[in-house]
Amino acid sequence: MAETPKARKVTAPAIASRKRRHGDQPIVMITAYDTPFARVVDDAGVDVILVGDSVADNVLGFEHTLDVDVQQMAHHVAAVARARPRALVVADLPWMSYHVDAADALRNAAVLVRAGAEAVKLEGGRRRLAAVHAILDAEIPVMGHLGLTPQSVHAMGGLKVQARDAEAAAELELDAKALAAAGCFAIVIEGVPDAVGESVTRSIDVPTIGIGAGPACDGQVLVLHDVLGLSSRPAPKFVRRYADLATVARDAVASYAADVRDGSFPGEAETYHAAAELRRALDQQPG
Ligand code: KIV
Repeated sequence: MAETPKARKVTAPAIASRKRRHGDQPIVMITAYDTPFARVVDDAGVDVILVGDSVADNVLGFEHTLDVDVQQMAHHVAAVARARPRALVVADLPWMSYHVDAADALRNAAVLVRAGAEAVKLEGGRRRLAAVHAILDAEIPVMGHLGLTPQSVHAMGGLKVQARDAEAAAELELDAKALAAAGCFAIVIEGVPDAVGESVTRSIDVPTIGIGAGPACDGQVLVLHDVLGLSSRPAPKFVRRYADLATVARDAVASYAADVRDGSFPGEAETYHAAAELRRALDQQPG
């Protein structure tokens, strides 16, 4: 029987050329933070795995993404990379890892690449261009992130929809154009009205990947734990939940606990049986 050819590894340049207006399929991006889930999402055929700083609130029990640092991110990036996914692995540069100066940003991006990232993502527009240029100069692909940028939670006064008026929308578009001109291979647009997602997507030649930015973006991204019903917080409006794994997991563990308590676990099938000789010897031991 002929072997099915393995699908080709997804690269940053391959993503950079995917615009829906050229007839390309929407890009599918989702987060993952560990090896088993990286395998699951890769087997499901996503294009991009984002090791997001959302690991902070989805996995590590923190309230904000502000609570993770580069070393913690590297730990999760390495776990995802060990799954050897076909999907492109993008790692979030966490808060304060690219705000001090460009050299610091580059050093931190390199830590994530050495951990297994194939590209990095950072939040912000024109104010972050020095960091973007330094990282790109070292041949590391950069994904931008505009709109509702969770690392700016305090400056924004909460996680609120952004670019709600024409002036703010125009500023966001200028940021997107600046990031695209600098060489970012894609830009995440988060938490903006649909018309803003649409007009930014129209105004740049690299793909936009939306999260709460309407259907016109060149791709979509969601947080895995929201998709699977594993997050403890109420889901934002833009989330579609495809499973209720929290209930599945709780029921499974409750069944295990019940089986241990009523003595039905472990059973015959889950037991290493002693040879008759060993059993006799043990039975003859005093005490
Ligand atoms: O960290 C993250 O999960 C993200 C997505 C929300 C885009 O940045």
